[in-house]
Amino acid sequence: MLPSLRYLAGTAGPSGFGSRTTAEEATAAGDLRHITAIITGATSGIGAETARVLARRGASLVLPARSLKAAEEARARVRAECPGADVAVLPLDLSSLASVRRFVKRFLDLGLPLNLLVNNAGKYADRFAVSEDGVEMTFATNYLGHFLLTRLLLDKMVETAQDTGVEGRIVNVSSTIHSWFPGGDDDALGYLDRVTRRKIPYDPTRAYALSKLANVLHTRALADQLREMGANVTANCVHPGIVRTRLIRDRDGIITNTVFFLASKLLKTIPQAAATTCYVAVHPAVSGVSGKYFADCNEASPSRLGASSEEASRLWTFSETITAEKVQKSIHVVSTGLFRLQAHSSNADRAMALAV
Ligand SMILES: NC(=O)c1ccc[n+]([C@@H]2O[C@H](COP(=O)([O-])OP(=O)(O)OC[C@H]3O[C@@H](n4cnc5c(N)ncnc54)[C@H](OP(=O)(O)O)[C@@H]3O)[C@@H](O)[C@H]2O)c1
Repeated sequence: MLPSLRYLAGTAGPSGFGSRTTAEEATAAGDLRHITAIITGATSGIGAETARVLARRGASLVLPARSLKAAEEARARVRAECPGADVAVLPLDLSSLASVRRFVKRFLDLGLPLNLLVNNAGKYADRFAVSEDGVEMTFATNYLGHFLLTRLLLDKMVETAQDTGVEGRIVNVSSTIHSWFPGGDDDALGYLDRVTRRKIPYDPTRAYALSKLANVLHTRALADQLREMGANVTANCVHPGIVRTRLIRDRDGIITNTVFFLASKLLKTIPQAAATTCYVAVHPAVSGVSGKYFADCNEASPSRLGASSEEASRLWTFSETITAEKVQKSIHVVSTGLFRLQAHSSNADRAMALAV
């Protein structure tokens, strides 16, 4: 059956689940009392439902958030349904590399294991902004912060998997909109450079698509690295489906409300939208599967650019360089030969990725 027809009919795919599966259904078989998970963006929407369901199955949670008040409210909501749930909250602003480093230090100081990392937080920004590290804000929040977070937590995840014999899992929440970034003349890093330096006008949808493409490419390169390391940790990414959350809060208004009303029959509910994340995070059928893209709780195909190993390794090298703690006066990235990064003492200049 065509994927779009299967989506509309809610027919189950090879996994036995489909577009109408809820997160509770996707995790029905799971006893997660041995699992400790970090879930970013759990203060609302898909992340909040992911946290609720994983806690219900017994997982211990760490919920990072840029507002501790919002995180505490999220914890209270989880505990109202699952009294006694083990939920820690810590501050984290993913748009700031310094904040990511502080979060990881605080988390490691707690001495907890880490079996599951759900990189879910995201934003769609109507207005152009640059992060304190000098990178376009949507890319900085949705991708770069998660890249550094994952890199700094990887040793802990590998160690936990070794000590416990339980497979570690990393889930990157992307979107089908990653395929709206077409590639061709508009290569990802060249576009990021031009938009960050305001050489081209800011287009919120294109910026969002690029950040979601980066989530897909990150997954691919990360899975390769984990395989090379021989780590008992997998990395996959998901498209949750389209659902009305706070993601497009900037666009609230009569037009958006009308479009959502008209399309309401085609949209998922939040419990359905959290299903694929939860399925990939904990279902036994996904054991050993790594580097894949999932939608409606089934393996799916990313865009042509999202499947490109070359683009994944270019992005990886760029990300490692730009997130390195000590950026020297001038670094020339020559390993890929495809771009060079000019980094200067000022943070704002760090994002100068020049396509050759
Ligand atoms: N909704 C959809 O139709 C859809 C479709 C495809 C993919 N997705 C993806 O699904 C994920 C979850 O989105 P959602 O729809 O559930 O949206 P949401 O309700 O707006 O939730 C986004 C979460 O990300 C957090 N966040 C935003 N910026 C952050 C930052 N700088 N540092 C830390 N946390 C930050 C928000 O925290 P605050 O409380 O601080 O704002 C919130 O908890 C996103 O990655 C999104 O791209 C959504």
